Amino acid sequence: MDLFKVYPLFDIKPVRGKGCCVYDENGQAYLDLYGGHAVISIGHGHPHYVERVKTQLEALPFYSNSVQNELQEALAAKLGQVSGCEAYQLFLCNSGAEANENALKLASFQNGRSKVIAFRQGFHGRTSAAVRITDNPKIVAPINEGFEVVWHELNDTAGVLESLAQGDVCAVMIEGIQGIGGIYIPDPVFLQAIATACHQQGTVLILDEVQSGYGRSGAFFAFQHAGIVPGLITVAKGMGNGFPIGGVLIHPEFKAWYGMLGSTFGGSHLACAAGLAVLEVIEQEQLMANATEVGQYLMEELQRFNQIAEVRGKGLMIGASFDFPVSVLRQELLFKEKIFTGSASCPKTLRLLPPLSLSRQEASLFLEKLHTTLKQPLQTKVA
Ligand SMILES: Cc1ncc(COP(=O)(O)O)c(C=O)c1O
Repeated sequence: MDLFKVYPLFDIKPVRGKGCCVYDENGQAYLDLYGGHAVISIGHGHPHYVERVKTQLEALPFYSNSVQNELQEALAAKLGQVSGCEAYQLFLCNSGAEANENALKLASFQNGRSKVIAFRQGFHGRTSAAVRITDNPKIVAPINEGFEVVWHELNDTAGVLESLAQGDVCAVMIEGIQGIGGIYIPDPVFLQAIATACHQQGTVLILDEVQSGYGRSGAFFAFQHAGIVPGLITVAKGMGNGFPIGGVLIHPEFKAWYGMLGSTFGGSHLACAAGLAVLEVIEQEQLMANATEVGQYLMEELQRFNQIAEVRGKGLMIGASFDFPVSVLRQELLFKEKIFTGSASCPKTLRLLPPLSLSRQEASLFLEKLHTTLKQPLQTKVA
């Protein structure tokens, strides 16, 4: 059987990972400034993570959501403690899109409405409702066009407040920091204004922290830099450090009823063990403080490059806008300097999403290699 080829592939086969590096079948190391798309939070092959997952795999990887699972309780308690969101309730699922799909459903159950406010350059996943509020018409199929969406530019406070004033909006869905769009940060004053207006209008504010959450911005959630209280918060990616797990943090004003949401695999024993290991390592190794410090260093140094027009970001979620499209630069960094970096929907933006354990030395090595690459004419031609 052939694979259904929806991904353009780099001709590299990583077979092993350790810390902030992956290794190919010849033992060649690649420095990972991409984190497998913001997924690797605590580093590749972390011994505590490997041990916890291995032990759980041997004991019981899965049983259904019809029985007691103390690991789910433990994960919810630990997530509440590490994130500072103790009062919220947790629903567990398997991916970012699924988390957003469930969040939209919860919002609609809560206020009986279906109109959603979403933002230009935003990305929320590929399932039916999540893709409807993703600003990329190419990936929206006719079957996904099921409810009304009002689009606004990020930070358009007046426009969003005007739309909310109609009193018929189900939810505002916004990324804590726009990721795929190119690392754009919502203004804290804008977030505070929409949080207040949502509260007044009975609209649910949903913070998509799938990419910006789990310590990546230096705070556990990026919205915490603005001091707001969302109705719903969605998580995935860094939550499992590569194990598929997602979740919705649900404000106490939402009341559950049996059958309201559900998932066969969500919250499996193995997923919870992975999720617990991630939180334990984030806490023990103070990875949020590391993300703040190393991120600050990287951003300050990137600003010195005269080919870089703008550096945006917080913690280890960084976008650098060059004065030329970066696809060839990324290929040269990968094939010549052995460094993975990320792209964004804006072709001139280089996106950095390394493990939160990235050291200052690793960051310096990247900067050195970037400098070397930019000194020579860019030439690699690889599909
Ligand atoms: C902000 C954001 N939300 C949702 C998603 C979808 O997550 P998943 O691919 O796990 O469904 C992504 C994926 O890149 C994302 O960046």
